Amino acid sequence: MSADLSRLYADHLAIQRTRADAALARGGFDHLVVPSGTQHYQVFDDRDYPYAVNPHFKAWLPLTNTPGSWLVYTPGERPKVIYLQPHDYWHVVPQAPNGDWVEHFDIHIIRNPDDAKQHLPKNANRCAILGEAQSALGQYGAFAPNNPPPVLDYLHYHRAYKTPYEIEMMREATRIGVRGHRAAERAFHSGASEFGIHLAYCQAARQDANDLPYNNIIALNEHGAVLHYTDRDRQAPRPVRSFLIDAGGSHRGYASDITRTYAADPGSEFKGMIEAVDAAQLAMCAQVRADTDYRTIHLDAHLALAKILRDFDLINVAPEIAVETGVSSAFFPHGIGHGIGLQVHEVAGFAASDAGGTIAKPEGHPYLRLTRTLEPGMVVTIEPGIYFIDMLLDALKDKGLGPSVNWDRVAAFRPFGGIRIEDDVVCTEGAPINLTREGFSNA
Ligand code: GLY
Ligand code: MN
Ligand code: MN
Repeated sequence: MSADLSRLYADHLAIQRTRADAALARGGFDHLVVPSGTQHYQVFDDRDYPYAVNPHFKAWLPLTNTPGSWLVYTPGERPKVIYLQPHDYWHVVPQAPNGDWVEHFDIHIIRNPDDAKQHLPKNANRCAILGEAQSALGQYGAFAPNNPPPVLDYLHYHRAYKTPYEIEMMREATRIGVRGHRAAERAFHSGASEFGIHLAYCQAARQDANDLPYNNIIALNEHGAVLHYTDRDRQAPRPVRSFLIDAGGSHRGYASDITRTYAADPGSEFKGMIEAVDAAQLAMCAQVRADTDYRTIHLDAHLALAKILRDFDLINVAPEIAVETGVSSAFFPHGIGHGIGLQVHEVAGFAASDAGGTIAKPEGHPYLRLTRTLEPGMVVTIEPGIYFIDMLLDALKDKGLGPSVNWDRVAAFRPFGGIRIEDDVVCTEGAPINLTREGFSNA
């Protein structure tokens, strides 16, 4: 890391400590104890699932592949890492601790998971232990995570406010994703299959499927209408009309989440609709400002997308009516976005405060994942879409709303699947920072 990043990381740790101090006080505990998590195995088998680190662990440490390790923080003391480095010649074991994080922690190397116990606080009852049940030690389940709600509520709520270090990590995760996206676009235009495009993405991002922050969505033609399409056909369809790619990158435990949609024919109406959604999406990104209720961005997006539906003659009612009657929801059936950071879908999207409580979703919008008011430091995605999903469009007919839709136009667009455009945007004191657009223009 550069000297600047080292300083940002040190500042980030100071903020983690301050937050942990407050969270422990809320819960009445003396120590924060965070297991990194364990390897999980397939039932009746010795095959392991990809390891996923506990987000509370990687909030402090840029370590995403050290199962069986622990972080211990006691207010007023240097944080401690109990670092599992097993003697094992079957697998690659974690390297000896190295990197800029090392100087900030007292480090204790252990060779067996159960040896963590000798370095953990004496009295487990005084510990807030955050993690999965499987992290408990030994046959009596010592140091089983208790996940106290007051501690979790506090930490999860404040995690929405990214430190400058975290924004830099997400910038790099974006650069990685943009490299992949550029290669995927080239592969699409050269006629590759979904599987081929996926491989081109991973190669350019230099990340394997398990390194990525979520499963790539690589959808040609009608597959763009399946919101979480993660099959990958080995053969390209003929003809190829459209390409929707939702794929990110990971950097030191932080995620980017990026979607682009392309038309094979640059003169097609579908290409025109992509451009219309892109312009609307940029206007939505500009709404990412302090004191804006994120629910407003979502509701405004429905109106903006309904206008596009009207302009392209897909509906024959006024955009306001399409929103009121739920017609717009058949074409745009997901939320406008979510918080992002250590997790692609960041926690505490509905949190009313750092002591609990829930901010309701707008009625009729069950899939919105974030209802908080934006404040500087929050990073959110903005991901409007228009899709042609038979199941949802048929349901409009059942509700007597069939006459609002121009079905011949739906039939013309259905073979293209759908459009989504997704950027990651930082809320600041002033103008928002669009990490994704910045990444594409600097690539
Ligand atoms: N990639 C999942 C999402 O956009 O939320
Ligand atoms: Mn997203
Ligand atoms: Mn996405």
